[in-house]
Amino acid sequence: MSLQVFLETLDSLERQAKEQFAGVVDANDLERLRVEFLGAKNGLLKAAQKQLGAVPVADKPAAGKRFNEVREAIESLLEETSNRLGGLPVAKLTGPLPDCTLPGLPPHLGHLHPITQTIELLKEIMGRLGFTVTEGPEVEDIWHNFVALNIPDDHVARDPADNFYLQPIDKKKSDEAPALLRSQTSTVQIRVMETTKPPIRIISLGRVYRPDEADATHYPMFHQMEGLWVDQHVTMAQLKSVLRMFATSYLGGDVQIRFRPSFFPFTEPSVEVDFFWNGHWMEFGGAGMVDPNVLTSVGIDPDRYSGFAFGLGVERLCMRRFGITDIRDLYRNDVRFLRQF
Ligand code: FA5
Repeated sequence: MSLQVFLETLDSLERQAKEQFAGVVDANDLERLRVEFLGAKNGLLKAAQKQLGAVPVADKPAAGKRFNEVREAIESLLEETSNRLGGLPVAKLTGPLPDCTLPGLPPHLGHLHPITQTIELLKEIMGRLGFTVTEGPEVEDIWHNFVALNIPDDHVARDPADNFYLQPIDKKKSDEAPALLRSQTSTVQIRVMETTKPPIRIISLGRVYRPDEADATHYPMFHQMEGLWVDQHVTMAQLKSVLRMFATSYLGGDVQIRFRPSFFPFTEPSVEVDFFWNGHWMEFGGAGMVDPNVLTSVGIDPDRYSGFAFGLGVERLCMRRFGITDIRDLYRNDVRFLRQF
């Protein structure tokens, strides 16, 4: 083959490539042209390279130089077209192109932990019943965790085996010094009554700590919702109505409520609170009328005022709502589990 014919073949190849690459509209087109022009076995450039062997030896340097120019020109066309289509990596592809019509992987959006969702909902429901939200510290002193709650020195509730004390119990040390991680949110009742005159209608939601062994329904750190209503003529019937309205809003439907006699040093009478829901009675917390000794300890006249208080386990409420059967799942931080709620 003469040099001239070979060069004309290359010119025609380059023209053809320019025209065809200009008309490419999608990745499939581009891949088809890549194979047609640059295909390692049957591509047009490969065919031209074979013809180079037939060019007279003296013309080979010129023929080879032009061949390389045309090859680079076609490779550039491929690259430019790929960029025009949004940077498809076709120039380096050896296999089939990715299928751009397949649905993508949806990004995982973060969301609130089920306990936080529950807390927000509880605040909203109780807000509708006229309760405002208050907070108290998680590191407490003996006064707020025990003394003011009518829990005497020798009461089992003070046992080191039942509390996370932060320092050795020193009888001479002030009751006001930080001493333990609070074991119940009832501490907040005291803090509110110390600083607020009745009428008082508050809830407080937060973490509490007990050295309970973790099992399906217990965890050493959990949350409680404390409620407190102090005013003239507050009665046990109102306590029951408020809890029933709360349970109906939270669990949906007409939830029955049951009080079982119980004992808490800071309420008299005291009850355990059960809700009947989905065919079962379930315990959610404790409640009662604020003990006159507690009112006295915070300077509220028990002859003039009465009040009720309750403390519900937030994890239990959360588990019921979301159908979670093991409390530990809430705190394993396994996002595959938490993502479901
Ligand atoms: C109390 O903590 C009282 N302070 C409640 C109270 C408040 C009574 C105001 C009267 C007036 P109790 O120890 O029963 O009560 O705990 C209340 C609820 O917390 C339980 O019913 C349960 O739902 C939840 N709870 C208790 N221990 C754990 C634990 N280890 N893990 C998860 N939830 C728990």
